[in-house]
Amino acid sequence: METSLVLVKPDGVQRGLVGRVLSRFEDKGLSIAGLKLLVAPKATLEKHYAVHRERPFYGSLLQFMGSGPVVAIAVRGVNAVSVVRTLLGPTNGQEAPGGTIRGDFGMSRSFNLVHASDSTDNAAMELGLWFPEGTCDYQHDVLRWVYDDEA
Ligand code: CMP
Repeated sequence: METSLVLVKPDGVQRGLVGRVLSRFEDKGLSIAGLKLLVAPKATLEKHYAVHRERPFYGSLLQFMGSGPVVAIAVRGVNAVSVVRTLLGPTNGQEAPGGTIRGDFGMSRSFNLVHASDSTDNAAMELGLWFPEGTCDYQHDVLRWVYDDEA
């Protein structure tokens, strides 16, 4: 089992897409292991996007991500990091295929609705940042109908 950190960005919250984004993960058979709505503190965004510090869009990215509430979601499942990235689709909504979250709902590269961890190492770092209190371990009874014996 892996856990990935997903953010519904301010554009996704403002556009009323939180429920539909959550449904994509639940419909897939992934488990919600943490969920919160917050206006992200600047320090959290600086740590979260530290890898982009030198990029020209860093300032506008931080401004956008702090411009309204985001929804942080811990999403759990087998290979959750790569499965969740596939569900999101490529960064730019204009290029993202239909059936993905960005492909179905987005038309922009910067207002691209959602973020998800791109590696298990980054997932661990990001989960520590957004869920310092930890995530929720529980028996998700439906999983015996989601996974066969192979996975
Ligand atoms: P995300 O997956 O959250 O990771 C970094 C974010 O930076 C990315 O989604 C986009 O929202 C944003 N981003 C990436 N490339 C660009 C770009 N060239 N111009 C503006 N924003 C970008």
